[in-house]
Amino acid sequence: MSQPSPDSSATKTALITGITGQDGSYLTELLLSKGYIVHGLVRRTSNTVRSRLDSLFHDKNIYERSLFLHYGDLDDATTIRRILLKTQPDEIYHLAGQSHVGLSFEIPESTCQFTAMGTLKLLEMIRDLEKQPRLLHISSSEIFGRPDASPQNEQTPMRPVTPYGVAKTFATQMVQVYRRSFDCFACNAICYNHESPRRGESFVTRKITRAAAAISLGLQSELRLGALDARRDWGDAQTYVTAMWMMLQQDAPDDYVLATGRTHSIQDFLEFSFDHVDLDWRDYVVTDPKFIRPTDVADLCGDPSHATEKLGWQPPTSCQDLAQRMVDHDLQLLQRKPIPAKSSEAVSR
Ligand SMILES: NC(=O)c1ccc[n+]([C@@H]2O[C@H](COP(=O)([O-])OP(=O)(O)OC[C@H]3O[C@@H](n4cnc5c(N)ncnc54)[C@H](OP(=O)(O)O)[C@@H]3O)[C@@H](O)[C@H]2O)c1
Repeated sequence: MSQPSPDSSATKTALITGITGQDGSYLTELLLSKGYIVHGLVRRTSNTVRSRLDSLFHDKNIYERSLFLHYGDLDDATTIRRILLKTQPDEIYHLAGQSHVGLSFEIPESTCQFTAMGTLKLLEMIRDLEKQPRLLHISSSEIFGRPDASPQNEQTPMRPVTPYGVAKTFATQMVQVYRRSFDCFACNAICYNHESPRRGESFVTRKITRAAAAISLGLQSELRLGALDARRDWGDAQTYVTAMWMMLQQDAPDDYVLATGRTHSIQDFLEFSFDHVDLDWRDYVVTDPKFIRPTDVADLCGDPSHATEKLGWQPPTSCQDLAQRMVDHDLQLLQRKPIPAKSSEAVSR
Protein backbone atom coordinates (compact mmCIF):
# COMPACT_ATOMS: atom_id res chain seq x y z
CA MET A 1 0.00 0.00 0.00
CA SER A 2 1.60 3.30 -1.05
CA GLN A 3 1.78 5.98 1.57
CA PRO A 4 3.11 9.47 0.96
CA SER A 5 6.08 10.27 3.14
CA PRO A 6 6.13 13.74 4.67
CA ASP A 7 8.05 16.15 2.44
CA SER A 8 8.24 19.62 3.89
CA SER A 9 9.37 21.15 0.58
CA ALA A 10 6.32 20.04 -1.44
CA THR A 11 2.95 21.74 -1.30
CA LYS A 12 0.66 19.40 0.54
CA THR A 13 -3.04 19.01 0.00
CA ALA A 14 -5.40 18.38 2.89
CA LEU A 15 -9.08 17.53 3.02
CA ILE A 16 -10.96 18.55 6.16
CA THR A 17 -14.36 17.15 7.05
CA GLY A 18 -16.13 19.42 9.55
CA ILE A 19 -14.27 22.46 8.22
CA THR A 20 -17.07 24.81 9.30
CA GLY A 21 -16.80 23.74 12.95
CA GLN A 22 -14.70 25.14 15.77
CA ASP A 23 -11.73 22.84 15.20
CA GLY A 24 -12.10 22.80 11.41
CA SER A 25 -11.80 26.57 11.18
CA TYR A 26 -8.67 26.73 13.36
CA LEU A 27 -7.10 23.82 11.52
CA THR A 28 -7.79 25.51 8.18
CA GLU A 29 -5.96 28.62 9.33
CA LEU A 30 -3.05 26.53 10.59
CA LEU A 31 -2.70 24.52 7.37
CA LEU A 32 -3.01 27.61 5.14
CA SER A 33 -0.27 29.28 7.19
CA LYS A 34 1.92 26.23 6.46
CA GLY A 35 1.33 26.56 2.71
CA TYR A 36 -1.19 23.73 2.29
CA ILE A 37 -3.91 23.59 -0.32
CA VAL A 38 -7.00 22.99 1.81
CA HIS A 39 -10.22 21.37 0.64
CA GLY A 40 -13.20 21.35 2.96
CA LEU A 41 -16.35 19.24 3.00
CA VAL A 42 -19.46 21.27 3.83
CA ARG A 43 -23.00 20.03 4.04
CA ARG A 44 -25.76 21.70 2.13
CA THR A 45 -28.07 23.50 4.53
CA SER A 46 -30.62 26.26 4.04
CA ASN A 47 -28.24 28.60 5.87
CA THR A 48 -25.29 29.59 3.71
CA VAL A 49 -23.55 31.68 6.36
CA ARG A 50 -20.44 29.91 7.66
CA SER A 51 -19.31 32.48 10.17
CA ARG A 52 -16.15 30.71 11.35
CA LEU A 53 -14.79 30.64 7.79
CA ASP A 54 -16.16 34.02 6.76
CA SER A 55 -12.90 35.99 6.61
CA LEU A 56 -11.11 33.25 4.63
CA PHE A 57 -14.06 32.75 2.29
CA HIS A 58 -14.25 36.43 1.39
CA ASP A 59 -10.49 36.80 0.94
CA LYS A 60 -9.88 36.66 -2.82
CA ASN A 61 -6.24 35.71 -2.26
CA ILE A 62 -7.33 32.60 -0.39
CA TYR A 63 -10.71 31.31 -1.53
CA GLU A 64 -10.45 29.23 -4.69
CA ARG A 65 -6.67 29.70 -4.65
CA SER A 66 -5.59 27.71 -1.62
CA LEU A 67 -8.96 27.01 0.00
CA PHE A 68 -11.78 25.14 -1.73
CA LEU A 69 -15.15 24.02 -0.37
CA HIS A 70 -17.14 21.05 -1.64
CA TYR A 71 -20.68 20.05 -0.81
CA GLY A 72 -21.03 16.61 0.75
CA ASP A 73 -22.76 14.96 3.66
CA LEU A 74 -20.95 12.35 5.71
CA ASP A 75 -23.29 9.58 4.60
CA ASP A 76 -23.03 10.52 0.92
CA ALA A 77 -20.29 8.06 -0.01
CA THR A 78 -20.53 8.63 -3.77
CA THR A 79 -19.92 12.34 -3.45
CA ILE A 80 -17.11 11.96 -0.93
CA ARG A 81 -15.40 9.36 -3.13
CA ARG A 82 -15.63 11.76 -6.08
CA ILE A 83 -14.13 14.58 -3.97
CA LEU A 84 -11.31 12.29 -2.86
CA LEU A 85 -10.50 11.30 -6.44
CA LYS A 86 -10.63 14.89 -7.60
CA THR A 87 -8.59 16.46 -4.80
CA GLN A 88 -6.08 13.61 -4.17
CA PRO A 89 -5.30 14.75 -0.62
CA ASP A 90 -2.06 13.85 1.14
CA GLU A 91 -3.77 14.23 4.51
CA ILE A 92 -7.38 13.90 5.64
CA TYR A 93 -8.52 15.46 8.88
CA HIS A 94 -11.82 13.82 9.76
CA LEU A 95 -13.48 16.17 12.23
CA ALA A 96 -17.13 16.09 11.12
CA GLY A 97 -19.83 14.58 13.25
CA GLN A 98 -22.68 15.32 15.60
CA SER A 99 -20.51 16.80 18.33
CA HIS A 100 -22.95 17.39 21.20
CA VAL A 101 -22.89 14.65 23.85
CA GLY A 102 -26.18 15.69 25.51
CA LEU A 103 -27.97 15.87 22.16
CA SER A 104 -26.85 12.34 21.33
CA PHE A 105 -29.47 11.05 23.80
CA GLU A 106 -32.15 12.77 21.69
CA ILE A 107 -30.80 11.82 18.25
CA PRO A 108 -28.82 8.61 18.82
CA GLU A 109 -29.46 7.15 15.36
CA SER A 110 -28.07 10.05 13.35
CA THR A 111 -25.23 10.47 15.87
CA CYS A 112 -24.18 6.88 15.17
CA GLN A 113 -24.90 7.12 11.46
CA PHE A 114 -22.57 10.08 10.96
CA THR A 115 -19.96 9.56 13.67
CA ALA A 116 -19.65 5.78 13.60
CA MET A 117 -20.71 4.70 10.11
CA GLY A 118 -19.47 7.94 8.53
CA THR A 119 -15.95 7.13 9.75
CA LEU A 120 -16.13 3.53 8.58
CA LYS A 121 -17.29 4.64 5.12
CA LEU A 122 -14.39 7.05 4.91
CA LEU A 123 -11.93 4.33 5.92
CA GLU A 124 -13.34 2.04 3.25
CA MET A 125 -12.94 4.73 0.60
CA ILE A 126 -9.36 5.44 1.66
CA ARG A 127 -8.55 1.74 1.54
CA ASP A 128 -9.56 1.64 -2.12
CA LEU A 129 -7.48 4.66 -3.16
CA GLU A 130 -4.32 4.12 -5.12
CA LYS A 131 -2.60 7.06 -3.45
CA GLN A 132 -3.33 6.55 0.24
CA PRO A 133 -3.75 9.74 2.24
CA ARG A 134 -2.86 9.88 5.90
CA LEU A 135 -5.94 10.06 8.12
CA LEU A 136 -6.51 11.87 11.38
CA HIS A 137 -9.72 10.85 13.14
CA ILE A 138 -10.87 12.97 16.02
CA SER A 139 -11.93 10.74 18.86
CA SER A 140 -13.10 11.78 22.30
CA SER A 141 -12.55 11.27 26.01
CA GLU A 142 -16.19 10.07 26.02
CA ILE A 143 -14.88 6.66 24.87
CA PHE A 144 -13.63 6.11 28.44
CA GLY A 145 -17.03 6.74 30.06
CA ARG A 146 -16.53 5.65 33.65
CA PRO A 147 -12.93 4.44 33.81
CA ASP A 148 -11.29 2.72 36.78
CA ALA A 149 -8.14 4.78 36.47
CA SER A 150 -7.40 8.47 36.41
CA PRO A 151 -5.84 10.11 34.48
CA GLN A 152 -6.62 8.11 31.35
CA ASN A 153 -4.10 7.35 28.62
CA GLU A 154 -4.06 5.54 25.27
CA GLN A 155 -4.19 2.14 27.05
CA THR A 156 -7.24 2.86 29.23
CA PRO A 157 -10.12 0.48 28.34
CA MET A 158 -13.03 2.06 26.46
CA ARG A 159 -16.33 1.97 28.38
CA PRO A 160 -18.62 4.58 26.87
CA VAL A 161 -21.85 5.53 28.64
CA THR A 162 -23.45 7.89 26.12
CA PRO A 163 -24.65 7.34 22.52
CA TYR A 164 -21.99 9.84 21.42
CA GLY A 165 -19.34 7.89 23.34
CA VAL A 166 -20.45 4.59 21.81
CA ALA A 167 -20.32 6.07 18.29
CA LYS A 168 -16.84 7.52 18.90
CA THR A 169 -15.67 4.18 20.36
CA PHE A 170 -16.78 2.36 17.22
CA ALA A 171 -15.01 4.90 15.01
CA THR A 172 -11.85 4.87 17.15
CA GLN A 173 -11.61 1.09 17.11
CA MET A 174 -12.26 0.96 13.36
CA VAL A 175 -9.35 3.34 12.83
CA GLN A 176 -7.19 0.96 14.87
CA VAL A 177 -8.47 -2.05 12.88
CA TYR A 178 -7.67 -0.40 9.53
CA ARG A 179 -4.24 0.64 10.79
CA ARG A 180 -3.40 -2.89 11.89
CA SER A 181 -5.16 -4.86 9.16
CA PHE A 182 -4.67 -2.74 6.06
CA ASP A 183 -1.57 -0.75 6.97
CA CYS A 184 -3.45 2.55 6.73
CA PHE A 185 -1.66 5.59 8.14
CA ALA A 186 -4.59 6.36 10.43
CA CYS A 187 -4.40 8.08 13.83
CA ASN A 188 -6.86 8.82 16.62
CA ALA A 189 -6.64 12.14 18.41
CA ILE A 190 -8.38 11.23 21.69
CA CYS A 191 -9.48 14.73 22.57
CA TYR A 192 -10.71 15.94 25.92
CA ASN A 193 -12.95 19.00 25.93
CA HIS A 194 -11.43 21.94 24.12
CA GLU A 195 -13.00 25.34 23.90
CA SER A 196 -12.48 28.72 22.29
CA PRO A 197 -14.40 31.86 21.39
CA ARG A 198 -15.59 29.84 18.35
CA ARG A 199 -17.23 27.13 20.46
CA GLY A 200 -20.85 26.44 19.47
CA GLU A 201 -23.36 28.32 21.59
CA SER A 202 -25.13 25.19 22.85
CA PHE A 203 -22.01 23.93 24.66
CA VAL A 204 -21.88 24.66 28.38
CA THR A 205 -18.68 26.75 28.37
CA ARG A 206 -19.91 29.06 25.62
CA LYS A 207 -23.36 29.24 27.21
CA ILE A 208 -21.66 30.45 30.38
CA THR A 209 -19.31 32.99 28.78
CA ARG A 210 -22.08 34.38 26.58
CA ALA A 211 -24.42 34.67 29.55
CA ALA A 212 -21.77 36.39 31.69
CA ALA A 213 -21.23 38.91 28.88
CA ALA A 214 -24.95 39.39 28.16
CA ILE A 215 -25.91 39.75 31.85
CA SER A 216 -23.15 42.29 32.41
CA LEU A 217 -24.55 44.31 29.49
CA GLY A 218 -28.12 44.06 30.81
CA LEU A 219 -29.21 41.86 27.88
CA GLN A 220 -30.03 38.69 29.86
CA SER A 221 -31.31 38.05 33.36
CA GLU A 222 -30.63 34.37 34.14
CA LEU A 223 -28.69 31.33 33.00
CA ARG A 224 -30.26 27.86 33.06
CA LEU A 225 -27.84 24.95 33.48
CA GLY A 226 -27.76 21.25 34.45
CA ALA A 227 -25.40 19.71 37.02
CA LEU A 228 -22.83 22.22 38.30
CA ASP A 229 -20.52 19.74 39.99
CA ALA A 230 -19.60 17.89 36.77
CA ARG A 231 -15.87 18.21 36.15
CA ARG A 232 -14.13 18.45 32.77
CA ASP A 233 -10.57 18.59 31.48
CA TRP A 234 -10.87 21.78 29.43
CA GLY A 235 -8.19 22.89 26.98
CA ASP A 236 -7.73 25.46 24.26
CA ALA A 237 -8.94 24.37 20.80
CA GLN A 238 -6.24 26.17 18.84
CA THR A 239 -3.49 24.23 20.61
CA TYR A 240 -5.31 20.93 20.03
CA VAL A 241 -5.46 21.35 16.25
CA THR A 242 -1.69 21.92 16.23
CA ALA A 243 -1.25 18.50 17.86
CA MET A 244 -3.55 16.95 15.23
CA TRP A 245 -1.29 18.28 12.47
CA MET A 246 1.82 17.05 14.32
CA MET A 247 0.32 13.56 14.52
CA LEU A 248 0.24 13.25 10.73
CA GLN A 249 3.87 14.41 10.37
CA GLN A 250 5.28 11.44 12.34
CA ASP A 251 7.02 8.44 10.77
CA ALA A 252 4.36 6.02 12.02
CA PRO A 253 0.67 6.32 12.84
CA ASP A 254 -0.42 6.19 16.46
CA ASP A 255 -3.14 7.31 18.89
CA TYR A 256 -2.60 10.25 21.22
CA VAL A 257 -4.55 11.59 24.18
CA LEU A 258 -4.86 15.38 23.90
CA ALA A 259 -5.70 16.82 27.29
CA THR A 260 -4.40 19.23 29.92
CA GLY A 261 -4.24 16.71 32.80
CA ARG A 262 -6.30 19.03 35.05
CA THR A 263 -10.01 19.21 35.69
CA HIS A 264 -12.33 22.00 36.75
CA SER A 265 -16.00 21.92 37.70
CA ILE A 266 -18.71 23.80 35.85
CA GLN A 267 -18.95 25.89 39.01
CA ASP A 268 -15.26 26.83 38.58
CA PHE A 269 -15.90 27.83 34.99
CA LEU A 270 -18.85 29.96 36.14
CA GLU A 271 -16.63 31.64 38.69
CA PHE A 272 -13.85 32.38 36.16
CA SER A 273 -16.37 33.85 33.71
CA PHE A 274 -18.63 35.87 36.02
CA ASP A 275 -15.73 37.17 38.14
CA HIS A 276 -14.24 38.56 34.94
CA VAL A 277 -17.25 40.91 34.57
CA ASP A 278 -17.51 41.55 38.34
CA LEU A 279 -20.66 39.50 38.85
CA ASP A 280 -21.53 36.68 41.27
CA TRP A 281 -22.82 33.71 39.26
CA ARG A 282 -24.98 32.57 42.21
CA ASP A 283 -27.28 35.54 41.58
CA TYR A 284 -28.13 34.38 38.04
CA VAL A 285 -27.80 30.61 37.65
CA VAL A 286 -30.94 28.46 37.78
CA THR A 287 -30.66 24.66 37.77
CA ASP A 288 -32.90 23.17 35.10
CA PRO A 289 -33.44 19.37 35.07
CA LYS A 290 -33.85 19.63 31.27
CA PHE A 291 -30.07 19.96 30.99
CA ILE A 292 -29.21 16.99 33.22
CA ARG A 293 -28.08 14.00 31.13
CA PRO A 294 -29.64 10.53 31.64
CA THR A 295 -26.10 9.27 32.30
CA ASP A 296 -22.87 11.17 32.32
CA VAL A 297 -19.21 10.29 32.25
CA ALA A 298 -17.26 10.24 35.51
CA ASP A 299 -14.69 12.99 36.08
CA LEU A 300 -12.52 12.41 33.03
CA CYS A 301 -8.97 13.65 33.16
CA GLY A 302 -6.47 12.93 30.40
CA ASP A 303 -2.78 12.13 30.59
CA PRO A 304 -1.10 13.85 27.62
CA SER A 305 2.41 12.47 28.29
CA HIS A 306 2.52 10.40 25.09
CA ALA A 307 1.77 13.53 23.01
CA THR A 308 4.20 15.69 24.96
CA GLU A 309 7.00 13.14 24.73
CA LYS A 310 6.50 11.94 21.15
CA LEU A 311 5.18 15.08 19.46
CA GLY A 312 6.75 17.71 21.68
CA TRP A 313 3.25 19.11 22.17
CA GLN A 314 2.63 21.37 25.13
CA PRO A 315 -0.97 21.38 26.36
CA PRO A 316 -2.44 24.70 27.44
CA THR A 317 -2.72 25.08 31.19
CA SER A 318 -4.93 27.97 32.28
CA CYS A 319 -8.66 27.31 32.22
CA GLN A 320 -9.25 30.71 33.81
CA ASP A 321 -7.45 32.46 30.97
CA LEU A 322 -9.52 30.48 28.44
CA ALA A 323 -12.79 31.46 30.14
CA GLN A 324 -11.76 35.11 30.27
CA ARG A 325 -10.83 35.19 26.57
CA MET A 326 -14.20 33.67 25.71
CA VAL A 327 -16.04 36.25 27.82
CA ASP A 328 -14.06 39.10 26.19
CA HIS A 329 -14.97 37.78 22.76
CA ASP A 330 -18.66 37.51 23.68
CA LEU A 331 -18.63 41.04 25.08
CA GLN A 332 -17.22 42.28 21.77
CA LEU A 333 -19.80 40.35 19.75
CA LEU A 334 -22.72 41.58 21.81
CA GLN A 335 -21.55 45.19 21.73
CA ARG A 336 -21.03 45.17 17.99
CA LYS A 337 -23.87 46.66 15.92
CA PRO A 338 -25.64 43.88 14.02
CA ILE A 339 -24.35 43.71 10.45
CA PRO A 340 -26.00 41.64 7.73
CA ALA A 341 -24.49 38.16 7.61
CA LYS A 342 -22.56 37.42 4.41
CA SER A 343 -23.46 34.36 2.43
CA SER A 344 -20.80 31.72 1.80
CA GLU A 345 -22.94 29.95 -0.79
CA ALA A 346 -20.41 29.36 -3.54
CA VAL A 347 -18.49 26.11 -3.29
CA SER A 348 -15.95 24.50 -5.58
CA ARG A 349 -17.41 22.08 -8.09
N1 LIG B 1 -14.60 20.35 20.94
C1 LIG B 1 -14.45 19.36 21.80
O1 LIG B 1 -14.35 19.55 23.02
C2 LIG B 1 -14.33 17.95 21.29
C3 LIG B 1 -13.82 16.96 22.15
C4 LIG B 1 -13.68 15.66 21.65
C5 LIG B 1 -14.04 15.38 20.35
N2 LIG B 1 -14.56 16.37 19.57
C6 LIG B 1 -14.93 16.03 18.20
O2 LIG B 1 -14.15 16.86 17.35
C7 LIG B 1 -14.86 17.16 16.15
C8 LIG B 1 -14.85 18.64 15.93
O3 LIG B 1 -15.40 19.27 17.09
P1 LIG B 1 -15.90 20.76 17.04
O4 LIG B 1 -15.87 21.25 18.44
O5 LIG B 1 -15.18 21.50 15.98
O6 LIG B 1 -17.43 20.53 16.62
P2 LIG B 1 -18.44 21.48 15.84
O7 LIG B 1 -18.03 22.89 15.99
O8 LIG B 1 -19.81 21.07 16.25
O9 LIG B 1 -18.21 21.05 14.31
C9 LIG B 1 -18.72 19.85 13.79
C10 LIG B 1 -18.51 19.88 12.31
O10 LIG B 1 -19.03 18.66 11.75
C11 LIG B 1 -19.88 18.99 10.65
N3 LIG B 1 -20.88 17.96 10.46
C12 LIG B 1 -21.75 17.47 11.37
N4 LIG B 1 -22.51 16.51 10.81
C13 LIG B 1 -22.12 16.41 9.52
C14 LIG B 1 -22.54 15.60 8.41
N5 LIG B 1 -23.52 14.72 8.52
N6 LIG B 1 -21.91 15.76 7.23
C15 LIG B 1 -20.92 16.65 7.07
N7 LIG B 1 -20.49 17.45 8.06
C16 LIG B 1 -21.08 17.32 9.28
C17 LIG B 1 -20.49 20.32 11.07
O11 LIG B 1 -21.06 20.97 9.96
P3 LIG B 1 -22.16 22.17 10.15
O12 LIG B 1 -21.34 23.44 10.31
O13 LIG B 1 -22.92 22.10 8.90
O14 LIG B 1 -22.95 21.84 11.38
C18 LIG B 1 -19.24 21.01 11.60
O15 LIG B 1 -18.44 21.48 10.55
C19 LIG B 1 -16.23 16.52 16.31
O16 LIG B 1 -16.24 15.26 15.69
C20 LIG B 1 -16.36 16.35 17.82
O17 LIG B 1 -17.25 15.30 18.15
C21 LIG B 1 -14.69 17.64 20.00
